[in-house]
Amino acid sequence: MIPRLELAVVIPTFNELRNVPLLIAKLDAALVGRAWEAIFVDDDSPDGTAQAARDLGLTDPRVRVIQRFGRRGLSSACIEGMCATAAPVVAVIDGDLQHDETILPTMLDALQADAALDVVIGSRFVAGGGTGDWDQDRVKKSALATRLSRRVLKADLSDPMSGFFMMRTQIARDLIPHLSAIGFKILLDIMTASPRPLKYLELPYTFRLRTEGESKLDYVVAMEFLIAIYDRLFGRIVPVRFVMFSGIGALGALVHLTVLYALFRKEAVNFVGATIIATVVAMTFNFFLNNALTYRERRLTGARGLIDGWISFCLVCSVGAAANVGVASFLYEMEHGTWAISAMAGLMVAAVWNYALSSRFVWGR
Ligand code: GDD
Ligand code: MN
Repeated sequence: MIPRLELAVVIPTFNELRNVPLLIAKLDAALVGRAWEAIFVDDDSPDGTAQAARDLGLTDPRVRVIQRFGRRGLSSACIEGMCATAAPVVAVIDGDLQHDETILPTMLDALQADAALDVVIGSRFVAGGGTGDWDQDRVKKSALATRLSRRVLKADLSDPMSGFFMMRTQIARDLIPHLSAIGFKILLDIMTASPRPLKYLELPYTFRLRTEGESKLDYVVAMEFLIAIYDRLFGRIVPVRFVMFSGIGALGALVHLTVLYALFRKEAVNFVGATIIATVVAMTFNFFLNNALTYRERRLTGARGLIDGWISFCLVCSVGAAANVGVASFLYEMEHGTWAISAMAGLMVAAVWNYALSSRFVWGR
């Protein structure tokens, strides 16, 4: 008889080919006598991680795979994995063997023994835990991120940056509508999303060194962390994407002025010609920056996708520019000369227009 499933272990992966079989062997050893399944959530890794996991699943049905296409994101991958199981309890663990899987049974015991307990967290910062051989730089950055996260956290977690935890699946499912799903920090997202404080327990573990593959933590991930914090604090009032889109728009205006100034001053072209060139350069600059940052998780790729996207972005922005001129000159006439207010109003209308239409038509799916 097939035993009743107790636990799903969700493993987000991106280019972890060589770690896949190693991790399954470790889970197999750690979880003897427990009914578990592993769910790899892979973002179509170029190294073939998903296929390696499927190969294992062929002879070991405990190994399952979700392969996502055209998307990236550690948090969103974890969420999709957590929603894809029938198990009453779900754990999240990194695919690179840096988390200590040998504490999984203790985590599971704790949840099974205490019905009031919601989450068990693997912590590097309670007695008995550690960060292994981290360099000073990473220790400092991690401490800074932890301090920042306290601004949004009500609970006094020792390791809110941890990506290693176990919880009741139903609670995770109930929280889905409240999650931001941005960036790397799924536990922080969960702990700050819950309308009621979650009851948690912290168990120590030592963060291991990575031996295969490489870390995906980079500047974009660091930026996403700040975005996630912003989203928790103010995201309901002004969406993150709009803030980024407008910030990039402001940079675009600088690019426009610089190009215009350079061309016109050199008297290479007349003013109209210089304006047209400056506009195209600024729009192109904005298109690529928004594609890389604002819409990074659904960014357009390939020559065809980029050209089509660029054309429709330029079309949207041209209408936005016309609206800008219209609104600004209308207000200017009406108010007899408060030019700054008229200009600001025109820019706001254009920003909202460009944002709303490009999110729908350029980066919409
Ligand atoms: N599906 C998917 N998509 N998986 C990803 C992505 C992605 O875009 N980016 C990273 N991963 C996977 C990696 O393959 C790995 O299994 C795990 O997520 C952690 O990524 P690392 O690149 O190894 O990150 P890290 O070691 O710097 O950070 C981890 O440790 C922190 C402890 O400080 C993360 O797990 C953090 O959440 C954790 O708190
Ligand atoms: Mn890692």
